[in-house]
This record gives sequence, structure tokens and C-alpha cells, in this order.
Amino acid sequence: MKILSIAIIVAAVPILQAQAATPRNYIFFLPDGYGPASEVFARDYANFINNDTVTLPVDEMAIGYVRTKATDTYVTDSAAAATAYASGVKTYNGAIGVDDDYLPLGSVFEAAKLAGYHTGLVVTSRITHASPAGFATHIWDRDEESTIADQLIGYSHPLGRVVDIMMGGGRCFFLPSSDPDSCRDNDFDLWSYAQNSSWTMTDTRTDFDNLRNGFANASLPFAFLPNLDHMMYEADRDSKLEPSLTEMVSTTLNWLDTVTEDTEKGYFLFLEASRIDHAGHAHDPIGHLHDILEYNRAMLTVRQWIDKHPDTALLSCADHECGGLTLGTPDYFWYPGVLTASRTAGFYADIYSEITAQNYSSSELEAAVITQVFEPYGILNGTAAEVSALVESEDPAIYIGELLSKRASINWSTLGHTAVDITLFGYGMNTMEMVGSYENTDVGQFMAAQLNLNVHNVTKMLNANESFVQSIAPPSEEAKLRKRYFYEHEHGLMHAAGHKH
Ligand SMILES: *[C@@H]1O[C@H](CO)[C@@H](O)[C@H](O)[C@H]1NC(C)=O
Ligand SMILES: *[C@@H]1O[C@H](CO)[C@@H](O)[C@H](O)[C@H]1NC(C)=O
Ligand SMILES: *[C@@H]1O[C@H](CO)[C@@H](O)[C@H](O)[C@H]1NC(C)=O
Ligand SMILES: *[C@@H]1O[C@H](CO)[C@@H](O)[C@H](O)[C@H]1NC(C)=O
Ligand SMILES: *[C@@H]1O[C@H](CO)[C@@H](O)[C@H](O)[C@H]1NC(C)=O
Ligand SMILES: *[C@@H]1O[C@H](CO)[C@@H](O)[C@H](O)[C@H]1NC(C)=O
Ligand SMILES: *[C@@H]1O[C@H](CO)[C@@H](O)[C@H](O)[C@H]1NC(C)=O
Ligand SMILES: *[C@@H]1O[C@H](CO)[C@@H](O)[C@H](O)[C@H]1NC(C)=O
Ligand SMILES: [Zn+2]
Ligand SMILES: [Zn+2]
Repeated sequence: MKILSIAIIVAAVPILQAQAATPRNYIFFLPDGYGPASEVFARDYANFINNDTVTLPVDEMAIGYVRTKATDTYVTDSAAAATAYASGVKTYNGAIGVDDDYLPLGSVFEAAKLAGYHTGLVVTSRITHASPAGFATHIWDRDEESTIADQLIGYSHPLGRVVDIMMGGGRCFFLPSSDPDSCRDNDFDLWSYAQNSSWTMTDTRTDFDNLRNGFANASLPFAFLPNLDHMMYEADRDSKLEPSLTEMVSTTLNWLDTVTEDTEKGYFLFLEASRIDHAGHAHDPIGHLHDILEYNRAMLTVRQWIDKHPDTALLSCADHECGGLTLGTPDYFWYPGVLTASRTAGFYADIYSEITAQNYSSSELEAAVITQVFEPYGILNGTAAEVSALVESEDPAIYIGELLSKRASINWSTLGHTAVDITLFGYGMNTMEMVGSYENTDVGQFMAAQLNLNVHNVTKMLNANESFVQSIAPPSEEAKLRKRYFYEHEHGLMHAAGHKH
């Protein structure tokens, strides 16, 4: 008997037209790499710690599912997903605000800026990383982070500056290559350029604190980029050097609220708990857990904000699952109580590399690994065989992450992403219209409709600039082939191309 029939494939339901009453402000909060198992993982941990049945703040805001496939693969990366949310159009993995033909796609973020809204990007990765980049910039390849930085500042963005507030990591992409801290591919001093063109560029915790939770009336545009690379994982964060994501969210909300008090339009704010994903790639349960809990604290802050500002709406959803996290292997148990460590696997891998730099005998090395790496990370009763396996391992951080995972009876099935649907969270005006199962592109189209923005107009404006269109396209046919999943797959280059977040 034929069980599957074409009848189960139903036509996409058109998105409802925006109702008369629509929100003045929109917040899109992206927990990168936060699959459904990751939510249960953190909730079970919270239950264990509280010896109670508790829910996470985001559990209370779940409204649906999001389907995430890209145009060239069922397993999206952050770039294709961010572009889908921002522009409402699906594209290939690696694409930042461009379509399958490498042509620029206007975003809800840019449309908001052009329409008179204020805008903010607040993340814990480099600010030039794929997700924020997909909302405010355009380039054929996510790795072109110098170009992304240029566009974020407005230096080479055809619409001029579209960002009012940005906070996150990635300062190295704003420094000229002659600076030892730079990671730019050229010697342009973007930091200085930005300062000369009205940006306030800051990089210390003191500068952040001087914003006084957003009430300092500091001038816009404003960038706070304390770290050269990503912000630290929440578990490893030194609060004397870096604010938490929740602190950055709270400051930005107060600030945008104040500056839009007397303006006709409100604001569009992109938030990202960026590194839930990185810990998933690294198979590190401790880094994953604490970044998830911080995302939940930040979501609670946004929810309480909306309770006091009902003209503001929130949608939040991951871009994809990460790591293929399984709770309960080999079967029927997993042990959150194992997750006692307060630092990430990467932190202990650094200690391990200090140990290996010593001229220790093998018994000294074993003792040092067990007491300084295994035990503080929560790997109790480590064996000599496990120490030997660590020494043999290609990536010590992943090895100890997997060892702790095994103690907890959880497992990871991939170093990359998976294709499962992710959860959609919503709070505030009209978000119940998104109850159900949607494509990631529908989420972006809904937000644009809610703010009465025409993203297609922005696409037309961008495409009208021929020199820009050329500058963001792949430099050669060879480069196109190298970057496309389809061809990488065909040519067996998947691994050579490296893992993409
Ligand atoms: C957890 O709660 C249960 C039921 O309330 C109680 O019987 C048990 O002793 C508690 N365990 C701990 C470790 O507090
Ligand atoms: C086209 O875009 C470039 C940035 O790539 C910008 O400098 C230039 O002013 C734009 N041209 C027009 C006509 O808008
Ligand atoms: C910024 O202005 C200073 C002072 O006028 C100048 O020396 C510097 O070259 C400018 N930086 C850039 C990148 O244009
Ligand atoms: C900021 O500006 C608002 C009005 O624009 C004013 O009420 C408030 O006192 C100012 N705050 C500070 C810290 O200057
Ligand atoms: C390391 O220790 C061994 C034996 O303890 C010794 O023979 C060797 O010279 C030492 N090497 C260095 C570089 O100190
Ligand atoms: C594992 O080690 C801890 C202390 O490091 C000890 O308390 C516990 O009894 C050990 N468990 C087993 C099964 O050996
Ligand atoms: C965990 O997953 C790996 C593949 O990533 C697999 O090789 C291993 O057998 C799994 N372990 C358990 C206990 O399921
Ligand atoms: C989009 O562009 C068309 C034609 O240029 C214009 O009539 C329309 O008002 C624009 N819509 C928005 C929302 O900007
Ligand atoms: Zn991602
Ligand atoms: Zn990733």
C-alpha cells in the first residue's frame, strides 16, 4: 500500500496581513544553535538544582516551530538562516544578505532604518559574525569579515549607516592590519574612520558602565566592542572586563526607549545569544548550559520589559540545532548533577596545555591532569586510560567535553548543525498570529509586515547600485564553486572546507 501520497504536501498558508494595531518596536532575539534538546537539557538541570519541577523563562513563551533548510542543503548555517530571517528569502550556506545569484537582499533591519526607526545589534560573538551580519550587511561569503565591518560602520554600505547601537566582540576587524591586534585583511583604520564620522567607539567595561543602564544620554551612533574576538562564554566571563548579555540587553532597551520617546517611529533591535552554538560545536556541556541560562535570563528581562512597554513585540528562535545533542545514552537516564563545573572545556584545555608545557614524568602528568583538569571540570574517577586518550586526542577541549558528556549520559552526534525544526518563542502584540509551524523566511516577512516595512523596496535600492553589486559578488568562478555546499559535496571537499558555525 502506498502510504505517502502527494496529498500530505499542503500548500503554504499565507501569512496574515498585519492587523490595524501593530507594535511600535520589534525585538528579534536569536539563540544561535539552540535546538529543542538544548532547552530540555537546561530545564532538567534547573529542575535538578532546585529539586523541583521548574520551567525556563522561554518555556512560557513557546508558540511554534521553525523550519530551517537552506537552498543548497537541508542543514543550514548561520549565514543562510540570518539572511532568511532578515530578508524573508532563502539562500545558500555562507551567504550574507545575498540571494542564490549573489544579488543583495534588503533586510527588515535596513528597511526599518530607512523608515526612521532606530536600530541596534547586540551579540556575544564577533559583531562581524554571520548572524548580525545577515541583518545589516551584504557579501557573498561570511568569512569576509573586514568587508562586513566596513558595512556595519556605514563606510561601504550603499544605504549609508544603518546601525545606531552595536555591542559585541570582534574589535580586531576594526583595527588596521599594521596593528598587532588586527585581523583585518587590509590596513584601513576603520576604528578611526568611524570616530571621524560621528561614531562613539568604546572598548572597556568602564565605558559600558558609563552608559548607566542606558540612561546616560550618550550620543549615537555608538559601538561597544570590548573583545578582539568573541565575547567570553558566560561561564568564563570576567565581570570586571565584560558585561553579561542581559546587562547589554537592558542597557540597549533603556537607551533605545529614551531616544525614541519623541520620534515618530520606534526601534528594531536584533539580539543574539551567539555562543550557545559554539559550545555545541565544541561538545562542551558546561559552556552550552551557562550560555543557555544567560539567554533565558535575557529573555526574561525582555519579557518584563514588554509587560511595561506593551507597544513592543518579541520573536525569538534559533537559526538551527547544533551538535545533535542526545539526552540519555546509552538509554533511559541522564545525569544533570554531573554538570557542576563553573568553567568551560576550553578553559580547562588551556590548563592542560600549560601542564603539557612542563617537563613532567608520565605519573606527574597523570596526577596533574586528574587534579587540575578532570576533577574541576566534573570528570570524577578519571582513569589512566582516559589521561592517555587526552594526550592522544586531536582536540583536547572536545575530548574533555565528550568525557564529561559521557559521565552525564548525554551525547553529541555531529560537530556541525542538524536539520531539525527549532522552537519559535513570541511575546507581545500580535505574536500569537505566529502560532504554528513556519519557514524561517515567514518569520522575517511577519516582522516586516508588523512594522509596515517594504523590504523588497530596499532590495531594489541595493541592486540599483551596480558597483556595489559587483563588489559583493564572488571574485571568480572558482571561488563560487569552492563556497557552495553542492559543489563541495560533489567534489568531496566538505571536510577540507572546515566546519562552519
Ligand atoms: C527533593 O524533594 C523531594 C520531594 O519534595 C524530597 O523527598 C527529597 O528529600 C528532596 N531531595 C533533596 C536532595 O533535597
Ligand atoms: C554605491 O555603493 C557604494 C558603497 O559600496 C557607495 O559608496 C556609493 O555611494 C553608492 N552609489 C550610489 C549611487 O548610491
Ligand atoms: C580621522 O581624523 C584624523 C584627524 O583629522 C586623521 O588624522 C585620520 O587620518 C582620520 N582617519 C581616517 C581613517 O580617515
Ligand atoms: C537624559 O535626558 C532626559 C530627557 O531628554 C532627561 O530627562 C534626563 O534627566 C537625562 N539624563 C541624564 C542622566 O542626563
Ligand atoms: C626533562 O626531564 C628529564 C628527566 O626528568 C631530563 O632528562 C630532561 O633533560 C628534562 N628536559 C628538559 C628540557 O628539561
Ligand atoms: C569517584 O571519585 C570521588 C571523589 O573524587 C569519590 O567520592 C567517589 O566515591 C568515586 N566513585 C567511584 C565509583 O569510585
Ligand atoms: C556517542 O556518539 C558518537 C558519535 O558522535 C558515537 O560514536 C558513540 O558511540 C556514542 N556513544 C554513546 C554512548 O551513545
Ligand atoms: C516602495 O516603493 C514604491 C515605489 O518606489 C513606493 O510607492 C512605496 O511607497 C514604497 N513602500 C514603502 C513601504 O517604502
Ligand atoms: Zn548559527
Ligand atoms: Zn554553528
